[in-house]
Amino acid sequence: MLKFSSLLSFLLLLVPLPATVNAQASALPQTISIQSRALPKGYRSSSSLRRRALDPVNVPLDDFFLGTDLQWFGNITVGTPPQIVSVNFDTGSFALEVTSDLCERCPQKKFNTTASTTFVDGNVTQTISFDTGEGVDPVIDNDYSLTLRAAKDTIGLVGGFQAKDIDVFLIVNQTEKFDIEPYSGIQGVGASAQGLFEVLVNQGLPSLFSMYLTPKSVGNAELTLGGIDSSKFTGELIYGSVPPDPSGKPPRLWLLQSSGISVNGMTNDLLNTSREIIFDSGTSNVVFSTNITEAIYSKISPDIKPNPAVFDRRRGRLRS
Ligand SMILES: *[C@@H]1O[C@H](CO)[C@@H](O)[C@H](O)[C@H]1NC(C)=O
Ligand SMILES: *[C@@H]1O[C@H](CO)[C@@H](O)[C@H](O)[C@H]1NC(C)=O
Ligand SMILES: *[C@@H]1O[C@H](CO)[C@@H](O)[C@H](O)[C@H]1NC(C)=O
Ligand SMILES: *[C@@H]1O[C@H](CO)[C@@H](O)[C@H](O)[C@H]1NC(C)=O
Ligand SMILES: *[C@@H]1O[C@H](CO)[C@@H](O)[C@H](O)[C@H]1NC(C)=O
Ligand SMILES: *[C@@H]1O[C@H](CO)[C@@H](O)[C@H](O)[C@H]1NC(C)=O
Repeated sequence: MLKFSSLLSFLLLLVPLPATVNAQASALPQTISIQSRALPKGYRSSSSLRRRALDPVNVPLDDFFLGTDLQWFGNITVGTPPQIVSVNFDTGSFALEVTSDLCERCPQKKFNTTASTTFVDGNVTQTISFDTGEGVDPVIDNDYSLTLRAAKDTIGLVGGFQAKDIDVFLIVNQTEKFDIEPYSGIQGVGASAQGLFEVLVNQGLPSLFSMYLTPKSVGNAELTLGGIDSSKFTGELIYGSVPPDPSGKPPRLWLLQSSGISVNGMTNDLLNTSREIIFDSGTSNVVFSTNITEAIYSKISPDIKPNPAVFDRRRGRLRS
């Protein structure tokens, strides 16, 4: 999912102490970044692996399927003792948000704040809205909004590693659109390691992750933290560079430069231009502005027409 840029100010607002901000900022060059590390062949079975502080970890993923594959989600733990919380690993956002017992109307399984001995309430609540939602319907009139309360707690991987005092945003209310989600939270996996991932990298996990997002009929989807499962792809890996953030801060979005779009080798002037594309595992569809979308469809079939029900409500509001 992609958030409105207001999240930036929101996150800064919620950081409790300026001293902490500085400490975190100076610790940040360890980014989770696919161009940062090319692993040698035989990496997974190599004995050098055992000298590492942390070995790669596979997190099995379930598929949220509603006629089509929409999202993939897996378990992390929150609190002490650890409570299992299912989250959507979302490369389009950066924070951790979990449904909590403070949300009366949320139908999802909830993280119980009072059952955690390490829970620290941050005492700040704010609403954020998302740019892309669930499924194939467009976002209309901020209908994907979460009300979040800042907090800190221990966050971990199921049956393993735990990190203390990690920022977690408790979902205390949500718009109805979120009610169909079968998982209880969103774990941002931004282009710079934060939260649990920053601690894992600082403890020696290779600064790398990979996702195997299969159709429901194939199954066995997984997130690999700290490595790439070479049995899951064929051909050469192609590395792209994430451009520096204009603000000078570590980049947060998985944004890559595309030299052009073609459909079965066909293109035109509108499609064959350079543009930045965000790779967002939490967005279920491909999103372009109307003119680009129509140009792509025109190369597939002249019979593809916009869905008037969606198009009319959405007219003029599309972001590219
Ligand atoms: C997540 O944990 C729940 C509860 O233990 C379990 O039923 C579910 O299968 C787990 N999901 C995945 C994807 O591992
Ligand atoms: C949350 O945990 C507290 C303390 O362990 C317990 O009393 C309460 O029943 C739990 N709430 C739910 C909804 O399970
Ligand atoms: C939140 O408020 C409670 C009660 O006023 C206080 O004990 C606690 O220290 C506050 N937490 C933070 C992080 O400010
Ligand atoms: C929670 O969100 C719903 C849906 O947006 C809204 O109708 C309701 O007023 C909200 N509840 C609170 C307590 O803010
Ligand atoms: C696409 O644009 C590039 C230059 O950016 C040009 O070299 C190439 O011929 C164009 N391809 C087509 C099919 O128009
Ligand atoms: C396509 O649409 C976008 C967004 O509405 C606009 O910024 C852009 O100029 C359009 N491009 C062309 C070639 O019309």
